[in-house]
Amino acid sequence: MNKILVWDIPARLFHWAFAASLTASIGIGFLADDEQPLYQLHMIFGIVAMFLLVVRIVMGVVGSRYSRFSSYPVRPAEVVIYMISEAVSKTKLYAGNNPGSATAAVLMFLLVPTLFLSGIGYGGESIEELHEAFAWGLVALIAMHLVGLGWHTFRHRENISLAMVTGKKTGKPEDAIA
Ligand code: HEM
Ligand code: HEM
Repeated sequence: MNKILVWDIPARLFHWAFAASLTASIGIGFLADDEQPLYQLHMIFGIVAMFLLVVRIVMGVVGSRYSRFSSYPVRPAEVVIYMISEAVSKTKLYAGNNPGSATAAVLMFLLVPTLFLSGIGYGGESIEELHEAFAWGLVALIAMHLVGLGWHTFRHRENISLAMVTGKKTGKPEDAIA
């Protein structure tokens, strides 16, 4: 099997900009004092993440092969089978997102607008608690995403993380993007 291109430049740029803006927003949100001017940056990074998501939704319809949401392997049965087989043995390899990363991506894409809206609507006690709870949900998803990447790297002896840098994975030539 050869190295094939699966993530085009827009997909990789989105990934790292999304990861960086969320890390910054979460980091400032939890660590900084909201009286500090730095807190303005918390909101700005949250707005940037939301803007990136809007661009990503367009890419999800008209983007490259594995950026399209229609390519996400997220049927519940497939996700469950994937999780079990990945835990007990090796599972089939996916050219684009695997069911684990696709499920995490869908949940992140739902949480970010929720965080954005609850951030804008900050003020009320209950909204404040919701915003914080959603932020913890996002932290948990990111942690699972990273554990999944580590597990895959160990199980398949494939440094999958590099795929989001070089755009390439091991696969069949017909599975490459144009
Ligand atoms: C705040 C941190 C992060 C967030 C929010 C995040 C988010 C995402 C999202 C949304 C996707 C789906 C991509 C798409 O379809 O457009 C994805 C996939 C991916 N991410 Fe991340 N990510 C983060 C950190 C990382 C890190 C640190 C690495 C590498 C060390 C990484 C490597 C990957 C890879 C390799 C994929 C593709 C998975 C596959 O081929 O099945 N991510 N990530
Ligand atoms: C989209 C990504 C976002 C994430 C991950 C996020 C995360 C967080 C976190 C972790 C906290 C600290 C919670 C706590 O310890 O009480 C926080 C607080 C806050 N966030 Fe966000 N947030 C996001 C977007 C926004 C946006 C877009 C706004 C406003 C435009 C906003 C406004 C606020 C405000 C006003 C606080 C309150 C500070 C306080 O009273 O302690 N957030 N957010």
